[in-house]
Amino acid sequence: MSLLSPDVIHRIRSAKNILFLTGAGISSESGIPTFRGEGGYWKTFKAEELATPEAFAKHPEVVWEWYDWRRGICREAKPNDGHLTIAKWQTSSPTVNLITQNVDGLHPRAGSRNLLEIHGNIFRARCTNCQAKYHLEEDGLDKPGLKYCTACESLLRPDIVWFGESYDNRLLTKAWEQSKIAHVVFVIGTSANVSVPANLALTAIRNGAIGIEINPETTTLTASIQLHFGGKAGEILPEIYKEVFPESISQ
Ligand code: OAD
Repeated sequence: MSLLSPDVIHRIRSAKNILFLTGAGISSESGIPTFRGEGGYWKTFKAEELATPEAFAKHPEVVWEWYDWRRGICREAKPNDGHLTIAKWQTSSPTVNLITQNVDGLHPRAGSRNLLEIHGNIFRARCTNCQAKYHLEEDGLDKPGLKYCTACESLLRPDIVWFGESYDNRLLTKAWEQSKIAHVVFVIGTSANVSVPANLALTAIRNGAIGIEINPETTTLTASIQLHFGGKAGEILPEIYKEVFPESISQ
């Protein structure tokens, strides 16, 4: 049975701008825990003790230990069919934008280049003093424990947006632009508990985009969404792609 009606297929095919907005759920099939779902990080760990500037000021070694451990999980994980389908879609069209809340680096590893990582990236660090940026593996800083700036010797911190912190203005401006011009917005694997990403999806919908959600659960966004698929991103997204691009099946 088809997932999409001929009208929706037509609207997706003729859309000048498509926006994918992803959250932790898209990486769960790659073995990376979500935050709020079953087995999610925030079921076991307290966000305020690990993902706030106050926590880092109080015990940076504990915060680094947690991010070093999570970075190991991300390094071992591989992009799944959800990430790969988005990357394939992006190579076929320059106007397919991707905004992710994920810090796991799986979208770029799947081949997505046109990507805004609005919550940062777990493989990056920045200096708490001079703001110099580092790629932990490429810059040889991948050992567990506290890490220091090679320029000014100050403490490095994970390049992640923590609770209570502002988003990077440059990325956020681009994200709002992409959401306002979208004709279709796919909202995938997010509980929509964080207000900025949820509002990016809502802005697209209020500006006329069709909203398509892929999530085994319903969310606070579901009521505003035209189509909700209650299943796994790695299964539903490739099916949607085949229905939109039937010519891809024989390739
Ligand atoms: P959550 O853990 O809040 O939500 C994950 C969502 O993914 C849930 O709604 C699940 O039902 C859904 N899900 C699980 N498996 C799925 C699958 N195979 N396919 C599709 N959906 C699936 O994660 P986020 O919404 O991404 O911030 O959380 C937002 C932010 O809160 C995170 O970026 C993180 C966290 O605090 C930072 O660390 C900065």
